[in-house]
Amino acid sequence: MRVLVSGGAGYIGSHTVLALLEHGHDVVIVDDFANSKPTVLGRLESLSGKHIPLHSFDLTDVDKTERLFDQEDIDAVIHFAGFKAVGESVAIPLEYYANNLGSTLSLCRAMARHDVGRLVFSSSATVYGDHAPVPYREDYQPLSAASPYGRTKVMVEQVLTDVAAAHEGWKVALLRYFNPVGAHASGQIGEDPQGIPNNLMPFIAQVAVGRRDKLDVFGDDYPTADGTCERDYIHVEDLAAGHVAALEHLDAMAAAVRPFNLGSGTGTSVLELFHAFERAIGRELPYDVVGRRAGDLPAYWADPTRAREELGWWTTRTIDDMCADTWRWQSQNPQGFPDA
Ligand code: WQD
Repeated sequence: MRVLVSGGAGYIGSHTVLALLEHGHDVVIVDDFANSKPTVLGRLESLSGKHIPLHSFDLTDVDKTERLFDQEDIDAVIHFAGFKAVGESVAIPLEYYANNLGSTLSLCRAMARHDVGRLVFSSSATVYGDHAPVPYREDYQPLSAASPYGRTKVMVEQVLTDVAAAHEGWKVALLRYFNPVGAHASGQIGEDPQGIPNNLMPFIAQVAVGRRDKLDVFGDDYPTADGTCERDYIHVEDLAAGHVAALEHLDAMAAAVRPFNLGSGTGTSVLELFHAFERAIGRELPYDVVGRRAGDLPAYWADPTRAREELGWWTTRTIDDMCADTWRWQSQNPQGFPDA
């Protein structure tokens, strides 16, 4: 298939672009580099040995999106593009709603006009809200979220459900990611957060490389084995493979819209991940336990049964792999991707 990847220069998008090319698909990227660097493109082309067409504009621009579909022959869309920082979304909710909803609406409009009905969407486990039983299952209702960022994911899932119901033949996979970490085995691409990292793994990696003094562990008084929060960490290469599996499954899907959890099915605590990282790099790192971070849930992980049974996909990489691959990327690229 010829796949339009929105946000293809970003962390998960870039790994998925490589997985698609390895599986014999063609890729067209649309990305405005709001939260990524153009230099990732050169790395993707040298790793894949292929030229990757790039369209650089903001997808909320309906006319430009329309023109892109006029110019390129597209069979399917994987839609990653969006703002994703939970805390920032509380401070600037309008930007989050305008961008995450607006980009999806103009993509869907252009898809409908050009008769493209295959869509894979980047959703998040955050749509399970605060009350879902653990492990999370896809059939849980009602969906909700605790931040404007999370609510954009719930809303886009609803928008896509309505759009797919109204357009004959549309097939939409909603991929609910748990906690993506790790990097490509080459060490050439990986997560490159701008500013101070919000998420645990990139923060630990920056402590290890000397960009941060120490890790602050947000609370060790949770009702978990070691008192720190447990999450379902998933290697970004497993996650990328999940997108290829979902894309290739779309035509066989009975329902017009289907959510799939992409997670491992096991929880790992903050301190377990931290100590695994220390083992991967062969030295101890500094940390302090500080107060809880507002909004954090004690522990959750995926029930990944549906993805295994219907997509034939499951995770194969361990926590140790995630740490080793993160370190290869971070140590080879201490400041992330170069500017030019
Ligand atoms: C993991 C654990 C923290 C940083 C969030 C979003 C989710 C998704 C991924 C993406 C928690 C603890 C963290 C630190 C710490 N969004 N922690 N010190 O919160 O599970 O999920 O990111 O697009 O929607 O909610 O991930 O990596 O931020 O935190 O102790 O410096 O690590 O308290 O328990 P989270 P995270």
